[in-house]
Amino acid sequence: MSDVAAERMAGFLTVKTESNEVKSKALIDPFGRHIDYLRLSVTDKCNLRCFYCLPKGFKNFETPANWLSFDEIERVVGAFGELGVSRVRLTGGEPLVRKDLAGLASRISALPGIRDLSVSTNATLLEQQAEDLFQAGIRRINVSLDTMDEARFAGITGGGKLQQVLNGLHKSRVVGFSPIKVNMVVMKDTDPDDYRRVLDYCMQNNFTLRFIETMPMGSAGRDASEQYLSLDTVKHRLKKEFDLVPGIMTGGGPARYYRINNSDFEIGFITPISRHFCETCNRVRLAVDGTLYLCLGQDDKLELRPLLRAGISDQDLKQVITQAIKKKPQKHEFNQKTAQVVRLMSLTGG
Ligand SMILES: C[S@@+](CC[C@H](N)C(=O)[O-])C[C@H]1O[C@@H](n2cnc3c(N)ncnc32)[C@H](O)[C@@H]1O
Ligand code: SF4
Repeated sequence: MSDVAAERMAGFLTVKTESNEVKSKALIDPFGRHIDYLRLSVTDKCNLRCFYCLPKGFKNFETPANWLSFDEIERVVGAFGELGVSRVRLTGGEPLVRKDLAGLASRISALPGIRDLSVSTNATLLEQQAEDLFQAGIRRINVSLDTMDEARFAGITGGGKLQQVLNGLHKSRVVGFSPIKVNMVVMKDTDPDDYRRVLDYCMQNNFTLRFIETMPMGSAGRDASEQYLSLDTVKHRLKKEFDLVPGIMTGGGPARYYRINNSDFEIGFITPISRHFCETCNRVRLAVDGTLYLCLGQDDKLELRPLLRAGISDQDLKQVITQAIKKKPQKHEFNQKTAQVVRLMSLTGG
Protein backbone atom coordinates (compact mmCIF):
# COMPACT_ATOMS: atom_id res chain seq x y z
CA MET A 1 0.00 0.00 0.00
CA SER A 2 1.34 3.46 -0.86
CA ASP A 3 2.02 6.02 1.88
CA VAL A 4 -0.79 8.17 0.54
CA ALA A 5 -3.25 5.25 0.61
CA ALA A 6 -2.19 4.35 4.16
CA GLU A 7 -2.57 7.94 5.31
CA ARG A 8 -5.96 8.20 3.63
CA MET A 9 -7.08 5.11 5.52
CA ALA A 10 -5.86 6.64 8.75
CA GLY A 11 -8.11 9.64 8.03
CA PHE A 12 -5.53 12.23 7.15
CA LEU A 13 -3.15 13.09 4.41
CA THR A 14 0.07 15.07 4.63
CA VAL A 15 -0.16 18.23 2.57
CA LYS A 16 2.98 19.70 1.04
CA THR A 17 3.36 23.31 0.01
CA GLU A 18 4.96 24.43 -3.26
CA SER A 19 8.34 24.44 -1.52
CA ASN A 20 7.63 20.84 -0.48
CA GLU A 21 7.52 21.79 3.19
CA VAL A 22 5.15 19.58 5.19
CA LYS A 23 2.44 22.01 6.18
CA SER A 24 -0.30 20.13 7.96
CA LYS A 25 -2.27 16.95 8.21
CA ALA A 26 -5.33 17.27 6.02
CA LEU A 27 -8.56 15.63 7.10
CA ILE A 28 -9.79 13.19 4.49
CA ASP A 29 -13.08 11.36 4.97
CA PRO A 30 -13.80 7.77 3.88
CA PHE A 31 -15.06 9.02 0.53
CA GLY A 32 -11.86 10.89 -0.28
CA ARG A 33 -13.30 14.33 0.48
CA HIS A 34 -10.87 16.85 1.96
CA ILE A 35 -12.46 18.56 4.96
CA ASP A 36 -11.03 22.06 5.06
CA TYR A 37 -14.05 24.07 6.15
CA LEU A 38 -15.66 24.47 9.57
CA ARG A 39 -19.02 26.10 10.16
CA LEU A 40 -19.19 27.38 13.69
CA SER A 41 -22.57 28.03 15.28
CA VAL A 42 -21.80 30.55 18.02
CA THR A 43 -25.38 30.61 19.32
CA ASP A 44 -28.63 28.79 18.69
CA LYS A 45 -30.58 31.95 19.54
CA CYS A 46 -31.98 34.35 17.01
CA ASN A 47 -33.75 37.69 17.02
CA LEU A 48 -35.91 36.55 14.07
CA ARG A 49 -38.22 33.55 13.64
CA CYS A 50 -38.06 32.51 9.99
CA PHE A 51 -40.90 30.01 9.78
CA TYR A 52 -38.80 27.39 7.94
CA CYS A 53 -36.01 27.56 10.54
CA LEU A 54 -37.31 28.22 14.07
CA PRO A 55 -40.76 27.09 15.26
CA LYS A 56 -43.10 29.82 16.48
CA GLY A 57 -42.80 30.34 20.24
CA PHE A 58 -39.73 28.08 20.47
CA LYS A 59 -37.92 28.72 23.76
CA ASN A 60 -35.93 25.58 24.38
CA PHE A 61 -32.55 27.15 23.67
CA GLU A 62 -29.29 25.74 24.98
CA THR A 63 -28.46 26.94 28.50
CA PRO A 64 -25.49 29.35 28.68
CA ALA A 65 -23.57 26.93 30.91
CA ASN A 66 -23.47 24.55 27.93
CA TRP A 67 -22.25 27.13 25.41
CA LEU A 68 -18.64 26.67 24.48
CA SER A 69 -16.70 29.61 25.92
CA PHE A 70 -14.49 31.71 23.61
CA ASP A 71 -11.45 29.92 25.10
CA GLU A 72 -12.98 26.53 24.27
CA ILE A 73 -13.96 27.62 20.76
CA GLU A 74 -10.44 28.93 20.18
CA ARG A 75 -8.99 25.58 21.27
CA VAL A 76 -11.23 23.54 19.00
CA VAL A 77 -10.79 25.81 15.98
CA GLY A 78 -7.04 25.84 16.67
CA ALA A 79 -7.04 22.03 16.53
CA PHE A 80 -8.94 22.12 13.24
CA GLY A 81 -6.46 24.68 11.92
CA GLU A 82 -3.58 22.34 12.73
CA LEU A 83 -5.45 19.54 10.97
CA GLY A 84 -5.61 21.55 7.75
CA VAL A 85 -8.93 23.37 8.07
CA SER A 86 -8.32 26.83 6.65
CA ARG A 87 -11.81 28.28 6.33
CA VAL A 88 -14.24 29.08 9.12
CA ARG A 89 -17.73 30.55 8.89
CA LEU A 90 -19.46 32.04 11.93
CA THR A 91 -23.15 31.21 11.90
CA GLY A 92 -26.02 30.27 14.19
CA GLY A 93 -28.84 31.00 15.08
CA GLU A 94 -27.98 34.62 14.56
CA PRO A 95 -24.24 34.98 15.26
CA LEU A 96 -24.43 38.73 15.84
CA VAL A 97 -26.56 38.23 18.96
CA ARG A 98 -23.61 36.51 20.70
CA LYS A 99 -21.89 39.09 22.90
CA ASP A 100 -18.56 40.34 21.53
CA LEU A 101 -18.65 38.32 18.33
CA ALA A 102 -15.93 40.61 16.96
CA GLY A 103 -13.70 39.65 19.91
CA LEU A 104 -14.14 35.98 19.05
CA ALA A 105 -13.55 36.69 15.37
CA SER A 106 -10.20 38.39 16.13
CA ARG A 107 -9.08 35.37 18.11
CA ILE A 108 -10.04 32.97 15.32
CA SER A 109 -8.42 35.13 12.61
CA ALA A 110 -5.16 34.98 14.50
CA LEU A 111 -5.05 31.17 14.65
CA PRO A 112 -2.37 29.44 12.57
CA GLY A 113 -3.80 27.91 9.41
CA ILE A 114 -7.06 29.90 9.38
CA ARG A 115 -6.92 31.94 6.20
CA ASP A 116 -10.55 32.72 5.57
CA LEU A 117 -13.09 33.84 8.16
CA SER A 118 -16.64 34.66 7.08
CA VAL A 119 -20.06 35.16 8.63
CA SER A 120 -23.66 34.26 7.78
CA THR A 121 -26.14 36.71 9.26
CA ASN A 122 -29.68 38.00 9.00
CA ALA A 123 -28.05 41.46 9.01
CA THR A 124 -30.51 43.03 11.45
CA LEU A 125 -27.59 43.99 13.75
CA LEU A 126 -25.02 44.40 11.01
CA GLU A 127 -25.19 48.16 10.68
CA GLN A 128 -23.90 48.48 14.27
CA GLN A 129 -21.30 45.70 14.08
CA ALA A 130 -19.98 45.75 10.49
CA GLU A 131 -16.92 47.87 11.22
CA ASP A 132 -15.83 45.83 14.25
CA LEU A 133 -16.30 42.56 12.35
CA PHE A 134 -14.23 43.86 9.45
CA GLN A 135 -11.51 45.02 11.83
CA ALA A 136 -11.58 41.55 13.38
CA GLY A 137 -10.55 40.01 10.07
CA ILE A 138 -13.87 38.96 8.53
CA ARG A 139 -13.97 39.79 4.83
CA ARG A 140 -16.76 37.71 3.34
CA ILE A 141 -20.35 37.96 4.41
CA ASN A 142 -23.58 36.12 3.55
CA VAL A 143 -26.92 37.75 4.30
CA SER A 144 -30.36 36.11 4.31
CA LEU A 145 -32.97 38.08 2.42
CA ASP A 146 -36.09 36.37 1.06
CA THR A 147 -38.05 39.35 -0.22
CA MET A 148 -37.95 43.11 -0.79
CA ASP A 149 -41.52 43.45 0.42
CA GLU A 150 -41.74 44.78 4.00
CA ALA A 151 -44.95 43.00 4.90
CA ARG A 152 -43.87 39.68 3.42
CA PHE A 153 -40.48 40.02 5.15
CA ALA A 154 -42.24 40.53 8.48
CA GLY A 155 -44.47 37.52 7.73
CA ILE A 156 -41.57 35.18 6.89
CA THR A 157 -39.34 36.28 9.76
CA GLY A 158 -41.97 36.58 12.50
CA GLY A 159 -41.93 40.38 12.69
CA GLY A 160 -38.51 41.33 11.31
CA LYS A 161 -37.88 44.79 9.88
CA LEU A 162 -36.63 44.74 6.29
CA GLN A 163 -35.06 48.19 6.57
CA GLN A 164 -32.61 46.98 9.24
CA VAL A 165 -31.35 44.31 6.83
CA LEU A 166 -30.97 46.80 3.98
CA ASN A 167 -29.12 49.20 6.29
CA GLY A 168 -26.83 46.36 7.36
CA LEU A 169 -26.11 45.39 3.77
CA HIS A 170 -25.40 48.99 2.82
CA LYS A 171 -23.03 49.42 5.75
CA SER A 172 -21.16 46.22 4.96
CA ARG A 173 -20.55 47.43 1.42
CA VAL A 174 -19.29 50.79 2.67
CA VAL A 175 -17.00 49.08 5.16
CA GLY A 176 -15.51 46.96 2.37
CA PHE A 177 -16.74 43.37 2.76
CA SER A 178 -16.28 41.41 -0.44
CA PRO A 179 -17.90 39.35 -1.71
CA ILE A 180 -21.28 40.07 -0.18
CA LYS A 181 -23.70 37.26 -0.94
CA VAL A 182 -27.45 37.40 -0.50
CA ASN A 183 -29.14 34.08 0.29
CA MET A 184 -32.79 33.85 -0.67
CA VAL A 185 -34.89 30.82 0.27
CA VAL A 186 -37.40 30.39 -2.55
CA MET A 187 -40.71 28.77 -1.74
CA LYS A 188 -43.85 27.71 -3.55
CA ASP A 189 -45.63 30.91 -2.58
CA THR A 190 -42.69 33.13 -3.54
CA ASP A 191 -44.01 35.40 -6.23
CA PRO A 192 -41.63 35.57 -9.23
CA ASP A 193 -41.82 39.31 -8.68
CA ASP A 194 -40.16 38.68 -5.27
CA TYR A 195 -37.04 37.14 -6.70
CA ARG A 196 -36.98 39.62 -9.55
CA ARG A 197 -36.91 42.45 -7.02
CA VAL A 198 -34.19 40.80 -4.92
CA LEU A 199 -32.25 40.14 -8.12
CA ASP A 200 -32.53 43.79 -9.24
CA TYR A 201 -31.44 44.96 -5.81
CA CYS A 202 -28.41 42.64 -5.86
CA MET A 203 -27.46 43.70 -9.39
CA GLN A 204 -27.64 47.37 -8.46
CA ASN A 205 -25.42 46.81 -5.43
CA ASN A 206 -23.07 44.25 -6.90
CA PHE A 207 -24.08 41.54 -4.43
CA THR A 208 -23.97 37.89 -5.50
CA LEU A 209 -27.43 36.31 -5.29
CA ARG A 210 -27.96 32.70 -4.29
CA PHE A 211 -31.27 30.93 -4.26
CA ILE A 212 -31.82 28.09 -1.77
CA GLU A 213 -34.33 25.23 -1.65
CA THR A 214 -36.08 24.60 1.68
CA MET A 215 -34.77 21.62 3.62
CA PRO A 216 -36.79 19.48 6.07
CA MET A 217 -34.56 20.29 9.06
CA GLY A 218 -36.28 20.10 12.46
CA SER A 219 -40.01 20.57 12.94
CA ALA A 220 -39.99 24.04 11.34
CA GLY A 221 -38.18 22.84 8.23
CA ARG A 222 -40.46 19.82 7.92
CA ASP A 223 -43.59 21.94 8.34
CA ALA A 224 -42.22 24.15 5.57
CA SER A 225 -41.80 21.15 3.25
CA GLU A 226 -45.15 21.86 1.66
CA GLN A 227 -43.56 25.14 0.59
CA TYR A 228 -40.71 23.31 -1.16
CA LEU A 229 -40.08 24.44 -4.72
CA SER A 230 -37.42 22.98 -6.99
CA LEU A 231 -35.05 25.71 -8.15
CA ASP A 232 -35.35 24.28 -11.66
CA THR A 233 -38.58 26.27 -11.81
CA VAL A 234 -36.80 29.49 -10.92
CA LYS A 235 -33.95 28.84 -13.35
CA HIS A 236 -36.42 28.06 -16.09
CA ARG A 237 -38.26 31.34 -15.52
CA LEU A 238 -35.07 33.39 -15.38
CA LYS A 239 -33.77 31.80 -18.57
CA LYS A 240 -36.73 33.27 -20.42
CA GLU A 241 -35.49 36.70 -19.50
CA PHE A 242 -31.71 36.33 -19.21
CA ASP A 243 -28.97 34.52 -21.07
CA LEU A 244 -27.55 32.44 -18.19
CA VAL A 245 -24.06 31.12 -18.80
CA PRO A 246 -22.71 28.37 -16.49
CA GLY A 247 -20.22 30.16 -14.23
CA ILE A 248 -16.89 29.12 -12.81
CA MET A 249 -17.22 30.64 -9.34
CA THR A 250 -17.53 27.47 -7.28
CA GLY A 251 -15.23 28.13 -4.28
CA GLY A 252 -15.83 24.54 -3.15
CA GLY A 253 -19.27 25.54 -1.89
CA PRO A 254 -22.68 24.05 -2.58
CA ALA A 255 -23.89 26.65 -5.10
CA ARG A 256 -23.89 26.08 -8.83
CA TYR A 257 -23.34 29.45 -10.43
CA TYR A 258 -24.61 31.04 -13.62
CA ARG A 259 -23.49 34.39 -14.97
CA ILE A 260 -25.81 36.72 -16.77
CA ASN A 261 -24.19 37.00 -20.18
CA ASN A 262 -22.31 40.23 -20.86
CA SER A 263 -22.26 41.10 -17.17
CA ASP A 264 -20.27 40.17 -14.06
CA PHE A 265 -23.43 39.28 -12.19
CA GLU A 266 -23.51 35.75 -10.78
CA ILE A 267 -26.55 33.83 -9.56
CA GLY A 268 -26.05 30.71 -7.46
CA PHE A 269 -28.48 27.84 -7.10
CA ILE A 270 -28.23 25.81 -3.88
CA THR A 271 -30.26 22.68 -4.49
CA PRO A 272 -29.87 20.25 -1.58
CA ILE A 273 -33.08 18.47 -2.53
CA SER A 274 -33.45 18.52 -6.31
CA ARG A 275 -29.73 17.95 -7.01
CA HIS A 276 -27.59 17.37 -3.96
CA PHE A 277 -23.92 18.29 -3.86
CA CYS A 278 -22.76 15.81 -1.21
CA GLU A 279 -20.01 14.36 -3.37
CA THR A 280 -18.04 17.61 -3.02
CA CYS A 281 -18.90 18.29 0.63
CA ASN A 282 -15.86 19.77 2.35
CA ARG A 283 -17.28 20.77 5.73
CA VAL A 284 -18.30 19.83 9.24
CA ARG A 285 -20.25 21.85 11.77
CA LEU A 286 -19.60 22.73 15.40
CA ALA A 287 -22.72 23.64 17.39
CA VAL A 288 -22.74 26.12 20.27
CA ASP A 289 -22.89 23.26 22.80
CA GLY A 290 -19.69 21.75 21.42
CA THR A 291 -21.30 18.99 19.34
CA LEU A 292 -19.48 18.34 16.10
CA TYR A 293 -22.00 17.38 13.40
CA LEU A 294 -20.53 15.54 10.48
CA CYS A 295 -23.39 16.15 8.04
CA LEU A 296 -26.19 18.73 7.99
CA GLY A 297 -28.75 16.07 7.13
CA GLN A 298 -27.64 13.20 9.38
CA ASP A 299 -27.32 12.65 13.12
CA ASP A 300 -23.69 11.44 13.19
CA LYS A 301 -21.84 13.52 15.76
CA LEU A 302 -19.07 13.83 18.31
CA GLU A 303 -19.65 15.63 21.61
CA LEU A 304 -16.56 17.68 22.30
CA ARG A 305 -17.71 19.70 25.32
CA PRO A 306 -17.41 16.87 27.88
CA LEU A 307 -13.95 16.05 26.55
CA LEU A 308 -12.83 19.68 26.71
CA ARG A 309 -14.15 20.08 30.23
CA ALA A 310 -12.47 16.82 31.32
CA GLY A 311 -9.11 18.28 30.28
CA ILE A 312 -8.40 16.46 27.00
CA SER A 313 -4.89 17.16 25.68
CA ASP A 314 -4.35 19.01 22.38
CA GLN A 315 -2.93 15.85 20.86
CA ASP A 316 -5.93 13.74 21.87
CA LEU A 317 -8.33 16.46 20.73
CA LYS A 318 -6.84 16.29 17.24
CA GLN A 319 -6.96 12.52 17.40
CA VAL A 320 -10.70 12.35 18.26
CA ILE A 321 -11.49 14.89 15.52
CA THR A 322 -9.53 12.83 13.00
CA GLN A 323 -11.39 9.68 14.08
CA ALA A 324 -14.74 11.46 13.82
CA ILE A 325 -14.04 12.55 10.24
CA LYS A 326 -13.68 8.86 9.39
CA LYS A 327 -17.38 8.55 10.24
CA LYS A 328 -18.61 11.35 8.00
CA PRO A 329 -21.66 10.03 6.13
CA GLN A 330 -21.58 9.87 2.37
CA LYS A 331 -24.68 12.03 1.88
CA HIS A 332 -27.82 13.39 3.41
CA GLU A 333 -30.98 11.38 2.91
CA PHE A 334 -33.60 14.10 3.09
CA ASN A 335 -35.46 12.50 0.20
CA GLN A 336 -35.27 8.88 1.37
CA LYS A 337 -35.64 8.75 5.15
CA THR A 338 -39.01 9.00 6.85
CA ALA A 339 -37.44 9.66 10.28
CA GLN A 340 -35.75 12.96 9.54
CA VAL A 341 -33.23 15.03 11.41
CA VAL A 342 -34.95 16.42 14.50
CA ARG A 343 -32.57 19.21 15.43
CA LEU A 344 -33.31 22.69 14.15
CA MET A 345 -31.32 24.40 11.42
CA SER A 346 -30.55 27.20 13.89
CA LEU A 347 -28.83 24.72 16.22
CA THR A 348 -26.54 23.14 13.64
CA GLY A 349 -25.75 26.40 11.87
CA GLY A 350 -27.18 26.24 8.36
C1 LIG B 1 -29.72 29.00 9.93
S1 LIG B 1 -29.27 30.52 9.16
C2 LIG B 1 -28.02 31.07 10.29
C3 LIG B 1 -27.37 32.39 9.94
C4 LIG B 1 -28.23 33.62 9.94
N1 LIG B 1 -29.14 33.70 11.02
C5 LIG B 1 -28.94 33.78 8.61
O1 LIG B 1 -30.17 33.77 8.59
O2 LIG B 1 -28.25 33.89 7.62
C6 LIG B 1 -28.28 30.07 7.77
C7 LIG B 1 -29.06 29.84 6.49
O3 LIG B 1 -29.92 28.73 6.65
C8 LIG B 1 -31.06 28.96 5.87
N2 LIG B 1 -32.14 28.09 6.34
C9 LIG B 1 -32.71 28.03 7.56
N3 LIG B 1 -33.65 27.07 7.61
C10 LIG B 1 -33.68 26.50 6.40
C11 LIG B 1 -34.44 25.45 5.80
N4 LIG B 1 -35.36 24.77 6.48
N5 LIG B 1 -34.19 25.13 4.50
C12 LIG B 1 -33.25 25.80 3.79
N6 LIG B 1 -32.49 26.80 4.29
C13 LIG B 1 -32.72 27.15 5.56
C14 LIG B 1 -31.33 30.43 6.05
O4 LIG B 1 -32.13 30.96 5.03
C15 LIG B 1 -29.93 31.00 6.04
O5 LIG B 1 -29.57 31.38 4.73
S1 SF4 C 1 -32.73 31.62 9.14
FE1 SF4 C 1 -31.28 32.80 10.35
S2 SF4 C 1 -32.48 34.64 10.77
FE2 SF4 C 1 -33.97 33.18 10.18
S3 SF4 C 1 -34.65 32.25 12.12
FE3 SF4 C 1 -33.02 30.96 11.27
S4 SF4 C 1 -31.22 31.66 12.31
FE4 SF4 C 1 -32.77 33.28 12.51
